[in-house]
Amino acid sequence: MCGIFGFKGKGNVRGIIKNGLKTLEYRGYDSCGFFLNNKNFTLFDKKVGKGKIDELVLSLPFKIEEEVIVLSHTRWATHGQISEDNAHPHFDCKKEIVIVHNGTIENYQFLKRDLEKKKHKFISQTDTEVLAHLIEENLKKDKNIFFAVISALKEIEGSFAFLITKKGENLIIGAKKNLPLVIGFDGDNYYFSSDPIPIAKYTNKILFLQDDEIFCLDSKIKFYNFKKNIQIKKEFDEIDLKEYKITKGIFDAYMIKEIYEQPEAIEKTLKYFLDETFERLLKQPMPERIIITGCGTSWHAGLIGEYMIEKIIRIPVEVEYASELRYKSPVVDENTLLIAISQSGETADTLGAIKKLKGKCRIFSICNVEKSSIVRESDFTLLTKAGPEIGVASTKSFTSQILILYLFSLTYLFKKRKIDREKFNDICNEILKITEKISFFLNNNNVEKIAEKLIYKTNALYLGRGINFPIALEGALKLKEVSYIHAEGYPAAEMKHGPIALIDENMPVIFICVKDKLMKKVLINMEEVKTRKGFIISVCDFISEDIKKLSDDIILIPHVSNEYMKPFLTVIPLQLLSYYVANKKGIDVDKPRNLAKSVTVE
Ligand code: AGP
Repeated sequence: MCGIFGFKGKGNVRGIIKNGLKTLEYRGYDSCGFFLNNKNFTLFDKKVGKGKIDELVLSLPFKIEEEVIVLSHTRWATHGQISEDNAHPHFDCKKEIVIVHNGTIENYQFLKRDLEKKKHKFISQTDTEVLAHLIEENLKKDKNIFFAVISALKEIEGSFAFLITKKGENLIIGAKKNLPLVIGFDGDNYYFSSDPIPIAKYTNKILFLQDDEIFCLDSKIKFYNFKKNIQIKKEFDEIDLKEYKITKGIFDAYMIKEIYEQPEAIEKTLKYFLDETFERLLKQPMPERIIITGCGTSWHAGLIGEYMIEKIIRIPVEVEYASELRYKSPVVDENTLLIAISQSGETADTLGAIKKLKGKCRIFSICNVEKSSIVRESDFTLLTKAGPEIGVASTKSFTSQILILYLFSLTYLFKKRKIDREKFNDICNEILKITEKISFFLNNNNVEKIAEKLIYKTNALYLGRGINFPIALEGALKLKEVSYIHAEGYPAAEMKHGPIALIDENMPVIFICVKDKLMKKVLINMEEVKTRKGFIISVCDFISEDIKKLSDDIILIPHVSNEYMKPFLTVIPLQLLSYYVANKKGIDVDKPRNLAKSVTVE
């Protein structure tokens, strides 16, 4: 998704904008640009391609004593191909109104046709440029740019966060709907961003704009609700941003750092749940039916949640892709609970699914970002406390999500008086022991060596059964998204119904084979693959003669008897495997091609 970073003040403008845009790089981008506005002069530049921020900022002054406004942007192409014309900022006909924007204006073609009839000339194919011309058109009647922006906001449909300035005026306007826009103030300078991370370096005085709010900053800052047409009062809060001041530390990439952070993420998530969520969740009525929804890795977490919830508290669960659920006609009522899972809390499809069911059933969210759109739209949130996840590939947020789903199940089991507090606490202590097993494996494994055998492969099959079938899906997604090797996850038994045709000595098959009720069945599936000369990598928590005979490589993980805790261990080698394969292929694992950390467009 796109990233916005704005500044109003004096100082090392080049360094400030560089820090802003580079900190937003994790969102994915294919072009970048800025516009510097000062009453005496303006500067403007755009660059196309990844990794162009360092080059772009060379066009900015190193230090400046006069007050300036800078709007800057990293674009992740949605409307219009990757080109200089389509890079932000965008302008009106007179090149006076300047805008950077994150989101989509869904009715932009309709608006564009109307504006072209009024002789507006467009340079780009973007929806953003339409907004600049719409404001220009409204300015003819409103005479004041702030009111012209508000008039434009009443005509557009979709999700947006944007910043606007007008050439030669000491003025910056910003508004948001469904997408984040954060403002920081250090006592002298103002900072504007799509998320708090780039601002954390300068101040902890932060203000999160809410949906339908707009601000206007000239000599002072004023806030309005453009839907209700009223001025509103907002305060800058001093928030604890230390977790937003993130670096890679000793690691080469955020992805591997975040894989290693999982023991800590699980501990923090567990502690927060017990301190802040457990008692409040107990007061929530027991649902009769649950729909779990999400996208990508979050959807995989939902599949694990289905196993846990149905087996532990015997409530029927269905798991839906959010992008499908939002256009279905699900039969729900006040006894149905929708659980939306999202790391970022800004995924458009998941937000769309929530809005589809809002008011028709209760809505819970499992989310890693407290001040996010999905949290705001939910009736109740079970927060993960994995800390900001910068790597595009979700890792620590996934294990934190499945922990929350397990704790959700246990809480309702306690509510049903099927376990007492002591048993609940015992299980929580077992969870803490899992973090020790994860740490042990992270520091004692052969995954990097095995990864070398996959570097030149073009396909891979991941097979698992029961609660480890979603882990097979997750392992395949990880390999696809960071190493660009095609991979499919399948229920191990299902492999016979088609995919077995793919098996030959060139097809690596990653089996999850752990000591559980389905182990013998998995061994049979391994035999089926072996007889067809498949190359087998086994992820297992025991070593037997069968495993040795059937496996070309074995990744041994610590054993845990609690079946609900096995996924916390089986997923780790698959995360590492995808990281090492991609790393050995020289791919930037934190910013894989075509991907964004949070997909805020449909
Ligand atoms: C997972 O590694 C991907 N980055 C992607 O599938 C992600 O899980 C999906 O886009 C959902 O994101 P969310 O959890 O922030 O809603």
